[in-house]
Amino acid sequence: MPGLAAASSADEPKERPFRSDPGSNLQKLKMADVETTDEPTVGLSSTYLVGVITGAVVIVSLIFSRLFFSKPKLNLPPTPKGIPLFGTMLKTRGPKTHSILIEYIKELGPLYALKTGLKYFIVVTSPEIAWEALLKNAQVFSSRPKLLSRLNFTGWRSVNSALYGDYWRGIRKNLVTQVTSGSKVASFAPFREEELVTLMERIDREAKSNDNVITFLPHCRFTVFSILLHVCFSKRFNAEDIEELDAILKRLLIILAPQVIDFIPFLQRFSKKHKNECQLLLDRMRKMFTPLIDEHRVMRNNGAPELDYVDSLIVLQKEMNLKETDVLGLIGEVLTGGTDTTANTLEWTMANLVKHPEIQQRLYEEIQEVTGGHIVQEAQLVKLKYLQAVVKEGLRKHPPLPFGITHGVTQQTKFRGYDIPEDAMVLFHIQAMQNDPTIWKDPDVFNPERFLNNDPNYDMTGSHGPKSLEFIPFGAGRRICPGMNLGLTHAHLILARLIQRYEFTKVNPNEEIDFDDALRFAVVMVNPLKARIKLRSS
Ligand code: HEM
Repeated sequence: MPGLAAASSADEPKERPFRSDPGSNLQKLKMADVETTDEPTVGLSSTYLVGVITGAVVIVSLIFSRLFFSKPKLNLPPTPKGIPLFGTMLKTRGPKTHSILIEYIKELGPLYALKTGLKYFIVVTSPEIAWEALLKNAQVFSSRPKLLSRLNFTGWRSVNSALYGDYWRGIRKNLVTQVTSGSKVASFAPFREEELVTLMERIDREAKSNDNVITFLPHCRFTVFSILLHVCFSKRFNAEDIEELDAILKRLLIILAPQVIDFIPFLQRFSKKHKNECQLLLDRMRKMFTPLIDEHRVMRNNGAPELDYVDSLIVLQKEMNLKETDVLGLIGEVLTGGTDTTANTLEWTMANLVKHPEIQQRLYEEIQEVTGGHIVQEAQLVKLKYLQAVVKEGLRKHPPLPFGITHGVTQQTKFRGYDIPEDAMVLFHIQAMQNDPTIWKDPDVFNPERFLNNDPNYDMTGSHGPKSLEFIPFGAGRRICPGMNLGLTHAHLILARLIQRYEFTKVNPNEEIDFDDALRFAVVMVNPLKARIKLRSS
């Protein structure tokens, strides 16, 4: 979803097209006509700082602001020394931001601040402190920062970017009732069945042409994205349109994470590049979505019943006075928010199942036992306790959004004796909490057993007191992911069907799987998983 990332890689992301055949350049061609901009980061994209003139302007402005507008000194959480103006930006930028922030805990403790340009990131890395902020002081910590970069797109008008208040409540409620509630998720089952047939065909095709070796992630991305398009438009898109849209939305994820203009606001006037690219991407979305939205509008005017997310947005547009760009942004966030998070969860989980064939075998046996050897049905997912534990362990060890989405505070506030400035950006470091060796035994080991005891603290809602914030891959509190139901249904069903149909093994028995990770909106495998597959029935 646009702007989901608290921060992202400063490196150009590797292309991760749906098509897994290495010769496919279609995605690259599509991306090539998008003007590139500097990558967002907790740190700084160096190409923004072009030349001595900008530097001089910045320094002079700073001196002036220090002299004439200096604020009373704040008592901030422990803050590492940084260089003037940039703070720690240059140190924390890049694809390893999530790991660098964990490193700081040793030096600074579980609650610390990072100076980034003229703003502060407040980093929370312990369940108790996260609970105190997200649950006990929810009123204050449930907003989003006023990122200037988001104004270049559709503004703070999507569920994930909206400031805490009535507007956010209205659009979030609509998303939950129309897309992610239990009954709605169940009603999309026919879409999922259609797309699962296509998934198996695509995998079989690649395996046949590639000595039974497949690249795993593109298949999952394609399937999840297609299901979400169905959820929004009640329509199947052709593969070419899906790839075009994917290219647009993937780029949006990168450019809508916090940018340097969010940290050094007066630089905005020196750069039109970010704005131009946002507008270009919005135009491309408009071209694809507007004819479909218009079709829905005509059908609704003719009295057709409300069926999908777009229908609900047409109704909401009148009720809440939404702009055309709001509707585009709200559709876009379902597609982006639900795709990489779920597909990457599947990739990391499968990588662990390939590494641990005994866990994969146990999972297969559970599925066969519950289904009696018939194709696993959605209604049976609740009975597959080991499957649920396997997916939980994947989400624990590799939370797709390692520090969720950046929170903001509604006002300057005192927290644990420290001052949190009104324009601070607050990160809840989910990965740090879920891999803390003082909380989890052998956190580096993939061990689904730890989730077999039905402990309510690990139901991923974070709603049972401080301990339940030890495991919050979907966040916690008022901004908790509204798509949890939907994402888990996709992950459980796709994984169960795949394991039931194929055995997944290493491409070469002697090779180790490379678990190196990089932050590119979600945390991805640097070397995408390749696996050798064998039909179980053969
Ligand atoms: C495995 C799948 C998923 C994971 C791990 C995940 C994780 C997250 C996390 C960590 C947050 C941030 C919570 C916070 O700010 O504290 C979030 C927010 C959000 N997610 Fe998800 N998500 C997933 C699937 C989905 C799906 C399928 C949708 C589509 C409907 C979705 C839509 C959203 C939205 C709209 C928000 C913003 C909520 C708000 O600001 O009120 N997510 N998600």
